[in-house]
Amino acid sequence: MNSVAGKIVGVGRALGGRVVTNQDLSEVLDTDDAWIVERTGIKERRFVADGEDCATLAADAAKNALTHAGLSGDSVDLILCATSTAPESMPSVACLVGEAIGAPGVGAFDLAAACTGYSYAASVAHSMLESGAARRVLLIGADAMTKIVDQQDRSTAVLFGDGAGAVVLEKGDGGSGFVDHVLGADGRMAPLGRAGHPDTQQKLYQNGREVFKFAARIFPEMTEKLLARNGVSPEEVQHVIPHQANLRIIHTATRKMEISKERIVVNIDRFGNTSAASIPLSYPDIYEGFETGRYIITVGFGFGLTWAANLYRI
Ligand code: ACO
Repeated sequence: MNSVAGKIVGVGRALGGRVVTNQDLSEVLDTDDAWIVERTGIKERRFVADGEDCATLAADAAKNALTHAGLSGDSVDLILCATSTAPESMPSVACLVGEAIGAPGVGAFDLAAACTGYSYAASVAHSMLESGAARRVLLIGADAMTKIVDQQDRSTAVLFGDGAGAVVLEKGDGGSGFVDHVLGADGRMAPLGRAGHPDTQQKLYQNGREVFKFAARIFPEMTEKLLARNGVSPEEVQHVIPHQANLRIIHTATRKMEISKERIVVNIDRFGNTSAASIPLSYPDIYEGFETGRYIITVGFGFGLTWAANLYRI
């Protein structure tokens, strides 16, 4: 078992500059507000504006998290960005963030696990801090999903938005930080969702029904596993932050868990599915109310298929 490390000392986010409502989409697609709200819970989402992309969102979120922590960019010693929509294959988004925050020479790399990226990256950050390989990590989840979604395809265009969330992590004194993680992937389910083949510029495709069923099952399973193997009771959990793919997934999963629904963080109505960003961009809304000694569970699931969850002690 790992020791506790990775205390969150700053949080920040950035969102695409264009607010796009369901009404806006219904003017260009065969869809309507009632269908989108009933089937997904989404009311509006943010699209990147001119000049914005995944890297600019990641950099802005990072700057906001550093400002919140009262720290300069060159005080971090690792930049780790979870993303699947880097504007270029090379350089990585993390490298571009390093340049933007004034952290030349600081180690930086991206990690790709689709919508599960933040939860995977959190486990890596935990290990780096715990081992002493890093003392302060800038951990980012960022995606500009509109760059890989076919805006003519109503079955996917209404779901996704663009954003980034960032946290500054320090090793801490072992009281607050990440406690444990569950990581999983199964490439046999790769055909259920894919995007971005470099030869074909293939836009995002998913088998929504099958991914839905999988997500609604794996979300409570991972939560229960983390609680059981760490001896944490549902009452000790202050927040569960799930990946925001569909409000019905969140409701279906919540019904299977002993954690009351007020403690499940929901913002899909405002931001849609922002992939690797959806978990970390939730922190600014809840950080000031963190109750020391209680727990946060973050739960990711997405293409791959991939799944991962993290137990964090406040
Ligand atoms: N407006 C109106 N009607 C629509 C729309 C729309 N925007 N989109 C689909 N429909 C229609 C379909 O054409 C279909 O019509 P039909 O019955 O005449 O054929 C009907 O609505 C039902 O379609 P379904 O696809 O069965 O709708 P469902 O209720 O399953 O909802 C959705 C679709 C929202 C995609 C849901 O399945 C879902 O959220 N799945 C999970 C997605 C997910 O978690 N993805 C993983 C993360 S993403 C990542 O890793 C990058």
